[in-house]
Amino acid sequence: ENHQLWGGRFTAEPSKYVQAFGASIDFDQKMAAEDLIGSLAHVAMLKKTGILKADEADQITTGLHQLQTKLAAGELHFSIENEDIHLNLEKLLTDLIGPVAGKLHTARSRNDQVAVDMHLYLKKHLNKILPLIKQLQETVVKKAADNVETLMPGYTHMQHAQPISYAHYLLAYFEMFRRDYDRFEFNLKHTDMSPLGAAALAGTTFPTDRDYTAEQLGFGAVYQNSLDAVSDRDFILEFLSNCAQLMMHLSRFCEEIVLWDSQEFHYLEMDDTYSTGSSIMPQKKNPDMAELIRGKTGRVYGDLMGLLTVMKGLPLAYNKDFQEDKEGMFDAVTTVEQSLTVFNGMLGTLKVQKEQMAYATTHDFANATELADYLASKGLPFRQAHELVGELVLKCLKEHKYLKDVSLADYQAISPLIQEDIYLALDPKTAVERRNSLGGTGFKQIKRQIAAAKALLKMD
Ligand code: ARG
Repeated sequence: ENHQLWGGRFTAEPSKYVQAFGASIDFDQKMAAEDLIGSLAHVAMLKKTGILKADEADQITTGLHQLQTKLAAGELHFSIENEDIHLNLEKLLTDLIGPVAGKLHTARSRNDQVAVDMHLYLKKHLNKILPLIKQLQETVVKKAADNVETLMPGYTHMQHAQPISYAHYLLAYFEMFRRDYDRFEFNLKHTDMSPLGAAALAGTTFPTDRDYTAEQLGFGAVYQNSLDAVSDRDFILEFLSNCAQLMMHLSRFCEEIVLWDSQEFHYLEMDDTYSTGSSIMPQKKNPDMAELIRGKTGRVYGDLMGLLTVMKGLPLAYNKDFQEDKEGMFDAVTTVEQSLTVFNGMLGTLKVQKEQMAYATTHDFANATELADYLASKGLPFRQAHELVGELVLKCLKEHKYLKDVSLADYQAISPLIQEDIYLALDPKTAVERRNSLGGTGFKQIKRQIAAAKALLKMD
């Protein structure tokens, strides 16, 4: 004999070990609230269409409401014997209202049920993640507005390249987060869809009303093909891919924070509230949070690769493999929500060491392009100018000085085109200010970017 809800055609029970291996209740109980909401919409439809008698539907509805109350109070107890959240809740409903509970599953399957739960769950969390990204963008814009004239070396190959404004650097991340936002928003479109009513795979002979359940659940659309409805996990893959890309952005930002918070750079100073000490070295103040977010990026990539691999080669429609879709999604949801929250607080409290950054821009050769551009603007072919300046840099390196320290006489010996105004041109502030091409680091351009960002975010 087999006591499972589906046990009719069986003569024996699976072993405890097999049951535990097949069960998903340990993790899918995260969707208990969604499962109850889905069932409430389904029973409302069964009543409206007359598939169930009104009093039967009402008994089920009352029972489901009681389960909602108990769930909120932490009074529901789930068991491995009942496999997953769907069967557990059906069992608890049966305990509460008796055999009429068995009518709830009319014209429904766990296959559309689990898909509904995941759509509802992800939609709820997309609606948390989107405002978290907006908040982070606001922090970035505020910081940029405070640092328009904060100069720092811009890098390529991790070598000083040309001076830039720290605000310009920050606004590059604003753009990345803007694209992240757009991607999650688009993801919402594919998540905001109701698979309910697809039943096991082929639809149902009962006169159901899928538009009605979709409306009850607040979904914007219904799946148009029942096979697709129960076997589509694209919305989760999109989500994981968006998460992976967002985490990659946070991780790059974190890498720079870790580096720039070091003694060698000291461009930034992490707030005490986001740092930790060492159990042995008393002087240490470690940027743990930035490192951890960088590290957690790896697990989110893993979540994406995991599900892509699960999905590869799966025939239509439902396969038990799908049960492996949940833990990665839950993990990515938690990791991204926490990382965004911590990162936002960390960035907001991060102290910018303006003098240290400025010092770096006056003790390097990042203004070499200015000298080459200066000569080119006076008619010397840029290639020749480049060669001359390169030779001068080599000479300066040998003499332990910077371009600003070269005398006017020495400059004029190199080229009579060079005048007194070269010193202004070599000044990093001038160099930044003059880069006024569209999207450049010039102060005017930065102010334009900030204004556009504020308008997009509807800030002050
Ligand atoms: N626990 C299952 C899952 O997560 C629910 C769907 C089960 N459906 C089935 N036909 N076995 O995918």
